[in-house]
Amino acid sequence: MEERSQGLARGLTNYGDRDFSVYLRNSFASSMGYSREVLKKPIVGIANSFSGFNNCHRHFPEMLEAVKRGVLLGGGLPVEFPTISLGEVFLNPTSLKFRNLMSMDTEEMIRAQPMDAVVLMGGCDKTVPAQLMGAVSADLPAVQIVAGPMMTSRYGGERLGACTDCRRFWGKYRAGEISTEEINTVESRLATTAGTCAVMGTASTMACVAETLGMSLPGTAAIPAVHADRLRAAEATGLAAARMFERPIRPSQIVTERSVENAIRVLLALGGSTNAIIHLTAIAGRLGIPVSLKRLNEISEETPVLVNLKPVGANYMEDFFHAGGVGAVLRELRPLLHLDCMTVTGETLGDRLETDPGPVDRNVIASAEEPLEPKGGLVALFGNLAPRGAILKRSAADKRLFEKEARAVVFTSLEDLAARIDDPDLDVTEDDVMVLQNAGPKSSAGMPEAGYLPIPKKLSAKGVKDMVRISDARMSGTAFGTIVLHVAPEAAVGGPLALVRTGDRIRLSVEEGTLDLLVEEEELERRRAAFTSPVVPAAERRGYDRLYAEQVLQADEGCDFAIMKPVGA
Ligand code: FES
Repeated sequence: MEERSQGLARGLTNYGDRDFSVYLRNSFASSMGYSREVLKKPIVGIANSFSGFNNCHRHFPEMLEAVKRGVLLGGGLPVEFPTISLGEVFLNPTSLKFRNLMSMDTEEMIRAQPMDAVVLMGGCDKTVPAQLMGAVSADLPAVQIVAGPMMTSRYGGERLGACTDCRRFWGKYRAGEISTEEINTVESRLATTAGTCAVMGTASTMACVAETLGMSLPGTAAIPAVHADRLRAAEATGLAAARMFERPIRPSQIVTERSVENAIRVLLALGGSTNAIIHLTAIAGRLGIPVSLKRLNEISEETPVLVNLKPVGANYMEDFFHAGGVGAVLRELRPLLHLDCMTVTGETLGDRLETDPGPVDRNVIASAEEPLEPKGGLVALFGNLAPRGAILKRSAADKRLFEKEARAVVFTSLEDLAARIDDPDLDVTEDDVMVLQNAGPKSSAGMPEAGYLPIPKKLSAKGVKDMVRISDARMSGTAFGTIVLHVAPEAAVGGPLALVRTGDRIRLSVEEGTLDLLVEEEELERRRAAFTSPVVPAAERRGYDRLYAEQVLQADEGCDFAIMKPVGA
């Protein structure tokens, strides 16, 4: 029997007789109509996260055909395989809980099935990080292609795009500024095409992060989902994956300490999603590369915000695409970047930046000389309330609230929040700091995007638009507000956040990067001694829920599973 270590002969099913394994596999593969010639080709697997429960991926069947065309052009055999898909708004309790499951699915199916390279088709918030986590762990040559953003829509004279405008209109509705009829009309116009959310939310940020890391082809992150260029990008991605047969470049050669630092820089210049810090930490963590929040602050101090997109600015992803996309941002940041980082094309980042950028729309992408903000969009806070850190998206917050000492109004869970937030008798003023406990990764809520606590109705009705809000939860990348997130360690494991009581004083200083609970240590010690976790113990749970409860790490470690770190790390 012919000896081959590529294509269908890779990773044989073990029957204790290699030749029999090859013979049987060829026989079964032939049943799919492949000729013997085709079965000798190297294989590009295509991890397809299409799902009827994922609106953002609804155009994947068409993109898949284009990826396959590219693989065939490159002389390979394209073989699609399904993986778990994570449609952001279709998952309970929250999509983050299943990101690690998708990453394990992706990793194991890349490793277990016979392929020489893989194309990762993802897009919606958690899918790209899950695929990158899986791919770097499997360490087979891999190229990411993203879904691309939705197009915007219209309501009267206004442009609408998911999902900053979803929240804006919901806020107006809660404040009684628009009617039920109007919110129903808006509801049907917010998301009108295939693709990911139309602003610089988590999906768009992760698409830009993937391109900056070098895991996707240059210029592909921002192409709208329904643009013909997206299909050309899909074809080119298939071709690029097939080209790796001759010159394999492994994810571990691309995702390095230096490329991760480049990605953090771009994230900050984008005014990107807070979630991206968690995801990037998890991706890098799979290779034993630490992402330090202290280092994030250092980079943030020297990285300007350049991109004028919602929720930080005024525009949408389709504008970013036409304005020059990630390439234009990278060129502005060039003196700050590590240009020797390898990419999936075999070129370095520096090589990429040699090509002509084309025109850049400065209304959307500012120059480094005249940035939107002189410092990066995210800042990590530390103090006795967040010993391992917390995150604030300062570019999407009200600067008047940045230096504040105020009374805490505490909600002990999401259920408590839902029950009391709109109570007319709730003891709260606009000068208070609202605190949400037990919404972190180990909580039963699974760290949902609930950190964007709604402004109590009695205050929103008076026109209050923003308040300081603190929690161990996450926030949608599309949201705006002075919202401190990812407090670590979280309340459910007895972190200091669990010790806050209504009436305590809290001090926030964005200038100093601090977050402190102004309560005597003796009193805190008393509260600590009385702490009991509200979380159902792992031993009383089963299946994936149990694995999650036992393994999930805190936000500063990317909420990955402890067992997914490299052996020995
Ligand atoms: Fe999929 Fe926003 S819901 S990216």
